[in-house]
Amino acid sequence: MSPSFKLQCHLILIFLVALRGESRYLELREKGDPDPFLLFSANLKRELAGEQLYHRALRCLDMLSLQGQFTFTADQPQLHCAAFFISEPEEFITIYYDLVSIDCQGGDFLKVFDGWILKGEKFPSSQDHPLPTTERYIDFCESGLSRRSIRSSQNVAMIFFRVHEPGNGFTLTIRRDPNLFPCNVISQTPNGKFTLVVPHQHRNCSFSIIYPVVIKISDLTLGHLNGLQLKKPSAGCGGKGDFVELLGGTGLDPSKMMPLADLCYPFQGPAQMKIGCDNTVVRMVSSGKNINRVTFEYRQLEPYELENPNGNSIQEFCLSGL
Ligand SMILES: *[C@@H]1O[C@H](CO)[C@@H](O)[C@H](O)[C@H]1NC(C)=O
Repeated sequence: MSPSFKLQCHLILIFLVALRGESRYLELREKGDPDPFLLFSANLKRELAGEQLYHRALRCLDMLSLQGQFTFTADQPQLHCAAFFISEPEEFITIYYDLVSIDCQGGDFLKVFDGWILKGEKFPSSQDHPLPTTERYIDFCESGLSRRSIRSSQNVAMIFFRVHEPGNGFTLTIRRDPNLFPCNVISQTPNGKFTLVVPHQHRNCSFSIIYPVVIKISDLTLGHLNGLQLKKPSAGCGGKGDFVELLGGTGLDPSKMMPLADLCYPFQGPAQMKIGCDNTVVRMVSSGKNINRVTFEYRQLEPYELENPNGNSIQEFCLSGL
C-alpha cells in the first residue's frame, strides 16, 4: 500500500467513525448519558488498532470481527472449513471476492451463507429472515464472479469452503456498511444495551445474546408513539398482534428456543429477568401497522449467579437450582 493511499484509508476510517460517533452521540443524548465522547474515542481507537490487521491469513476455522483483506491458502487438503464474520449491531457485512483459485470440478467449494449456522441451527431463523433458505446460500461454483460482492442482511455472515490442492485458495475483502434499522442481530459482547425499532414493517426481528445474562427491559412501545393506538393490557398475548417475546435455549435458532415470557402491552420502567440459558433472544413480532420499539440492557451472569437462584422477586430461567 502506498503511503498516500494508506493516509486516504485512515481519513476515510476516521470519517466513518466520526459519522458513527455522531449517531451514537444523538442516541445517547436522548437517553441522557453524560459522556458520549468516551464511547466515541474508544471506538476510534479500536478501529485504528484494527487497521493494523488489515491483511491477514484466514484459518480453516476462523472468526473475524474486523474489516480487511483475508487470504486462505491450503497447506494440505482442507475439507471442512468455515469462517464466521460478525460486526456491530448497526452494520451489514459485505464480502468481496478478490481472487479465487479453487477447483470446482475437483470437488472444491466456496459458499457464503447469509447468517450463521452452527450444529444445523440457523440465525436468523427461517421465520425471521427476509429471504428463503435456499437463497441465503451463494455458491461460488455456481455463480462464479458474476456476484463479486455479497452483502449480508444483518451483522453476521459466514463462509464454508473446501480446498483439496495445496497452494490453492482465495482472497476476500470484508467491509462493514451502516444499517439504519438493524433487525436481526447477534450481540458481539456479553454486556450491552440496545433499542430495537421496527418502523411500520411486517417482519420479525431477533436480538440474540450468546451468553447467560441478566436482562432488563426498560421501555416497550407497541403502536404509534402518540399512544392513540395502544392496546389495552389484557391477559396473555395469545400470539396475536404485535408483541415481544423472550426466548431461551442452547442453540442458535430462535424458532427452536423455549418461550420464557411474552410482553404485549406497552410499559415503562424496568422488568428484570435472570436467564441462565446458553442463549437468550429478544424477539419482536410486528404486523407493520405500528412503530414498535423495545429497549433493553444485559449483562453476563457470573458463575456463582448460575448456581444460586436468589429467591427474590427477579424472575429466573434455565438455572440449575430450578
Ligand atoms: C412473524 O412471526 C409470527 C409468529 O411467530 C408469524 O405468525 C408471522 O407469520 C411472522 N411474520 C413474518 C413476516 O414472517
